[in-house]
Amino acid sequence: MNIIITKNYQELSKKAANIFLNQLALKPDSVFGLATGSTPLGMYAEIIKRFKNHTYDFSRVKTFNLDEYYGLKKNNPQSYYYFMQENFFKQVNFKDKNINFLNGMASNPQKECADYEAKIKRNPIDLQILGIGANGHIGFNEPGSKLNSKSRLIDLDKKTIEDNSKFFSSKGEVPTRALTIGIGTILSAKKILLLASGKNKAEAVRGMVEKQSSAKCPASFLQKHNDVIVIADQEATSMLKKKYKSQNNFEDIIYNENNISIKRH
Ligand code: F6R
Repeated sequence: MNIIITKNYQELSKKAANIFLNQLALKPDSVFGLATGSTPLGMYAEIIKRFKNHTYDFSRVKTFNLDEYYGLKKNNPQSYYYFMQENFFKQVNFKDKNINFLNGMASNPQKECADYEAKIKRNPIDLQILGIGANGHIGFNEPGSKLNSKSRLIDLDKKTIEDNSKFFSSKGEVPTRALTIGIGTILSAKKILLLASGKNKAEAVRGMVEKQSSAKCPASFLQKHNDVIVIADQEATSMLKKKYKSQNNFEDIIYNENNISIKRH
């Protein structure tokens, strides 16, 4: 697990955008696994900004989002599908047919999840973007989720409902169930980029990085993957006990704002 500690959220978002766009430069038909939530918003905004200033082409990119609330229609402003449309998809040149999402209205969620899982298998994810829940969840794999878990319908943790109520007018409106890809599905991605910002993530980040991997902190299962980059700001890393050098060399390919220049360290 490679850790990049940044001064603040802005720096985190820029570095994450570098890695995302490097992946696109290396493989124009990359498959990206995408996350919603507040953490990747800065990265998406940075990518959109650079898309407007430079020539990037997302038309061959495929995306698979991590999760969706169960019982929300795509056009519900609280759905993750809607969130992605507004905050990312509409603002660059993705092709609709290349965007993949779990359907929160699926009448047969088991079949929906099995089909999604099979589609990911046919289109292996090159770069999986993740946030982390304050309880250590990744996707909606709440504490207790198994290492080899696959896409499924889950009950959201009390803590998650509380945390996500910031996006709703009241806690009672937050759906209590969601469809999510599994930990096993996440670990099948070739490369994983996890973003963490803010003090309320510090304990989860410590569990992910320094504690023995266990279902108590699902993000700790990322220790089993051999290509994980964590970009976290100082607040999110404030509970780490070991010293980590704040360094840039894990962005082993440097993106230059004016040109795409590829440089390996
Ligand atoms: C979102 C997702 C979640 C979030 C996590 C952090 O698609 O799968 O795991 O990444 O809950 O959310 P924020 O970024 O809002 O703190």
